[in-house]
Amino acid sequence: MLTVKNLNAGYGKLQVLYDVSIEVPGKGITVVVGPNGAGKTTLLCSIMGIANVFSGEVLFEGAPITGQLSYMLAKKGISYVPQMGNVFAELTVMDNLQMAGYLMARDEVKHKAEQMTEMFPVLKKFIDRKAVTLSGGERRMLAVAMGLMKNPKLMLLDELSTDLAPIIAERVMLEVARLRDELGITILFVEQMAKRALEIGDTAYLLVSGGLKFAGKACDLLHEPELAGLYLGIKQAPAGGPVQIIPSSEGSG
Ligand SMILES: Nc1ncnc2c1ncn2[C@@H]1O[C@H](COP(=O)(O)OP(=O)(O)OP(=O)(O)O)[C@@H](O)[C@H]1O
Ligand SMILES: [Mg+2]
Repeated sequence: MLTVKNLNAGYGKLQVLYDVSIEVPGKGITVVVGPNGAGKTTLLCSIMGIANVFSGEVLFEGAPITGQLSYMLAKKGISYVPQMGNVFAELTVMDNLQMAGYLMARDEVKHKAEQMTEMFPVLKKFIDRKAVTLSGGERRMLAVAMGLMKNPKLMLLDELSTDLAPIIAERVMLEVARLRDELGITILFVEQMAKRALEIGDTAYLLVSGGLKFAGKACDLLHEPELAGLYLGIKQAPAGGPVQIIPSSEGSG
């Protein structure tokens, strides 16, 4: 569905990405993992026409979209949930959903907003509260719901789990899997919770210092001892049996 070919990109004259090529197949989850500063957000920004593309090409459903502005991409069915600043803090949950549906017919906005509050009951509960009063996890759900308002074919999600308690991050992860399984949405997912993201993902890329170190099946990267251990901090279970968990003597978990 989305193809990035030999992309060299960055900000101003600063180059961040070097010859990056990725393929995002339809109706699956493609995960991009890698250490801080590797260029994951920059990759999404390059696709969304926010970062500078020096050379290379981005294709959506076979047609070139390189450098096109976000609103044009939104019209084509691409929705982007940025890492930061993805909701309007001073607006209510309902107003945020309506903002996300701008340019849509009023009836359709109403219908989609109802659908979103059914999908994310927590939003229904807090429909009249300002987004600034929501918890981190609730705010991420709102950002995803806003991204879904326009019925996207492809969603780009940047670090939904950052700053979230593990149990909330897990819920957000399950929601992402649900977007694929129940709505058939194609997802390009940048995530720091690498292990969990690779478990729910289908295709995976490992980005290190602006270049690709792995391209293939998510489960293969998960079980690649050298790369997963070195760059993602994923420990492999020893051949002899399950990992042994040593209880902490302080009892602090
Ligand atoms: N607007 C910008 N102007 C200049 N340099 C930038 C800008 N945004 C990011 N960079 C630099 O580009 C590099 C890649 O940053 P990027 O945000 O893409 O990394 P990332 O993989 O998303 O990291 P993280 O996991 O911390 O979110 C970093 O060295 C960063 O300092
Ligand atoms: Mg980032």
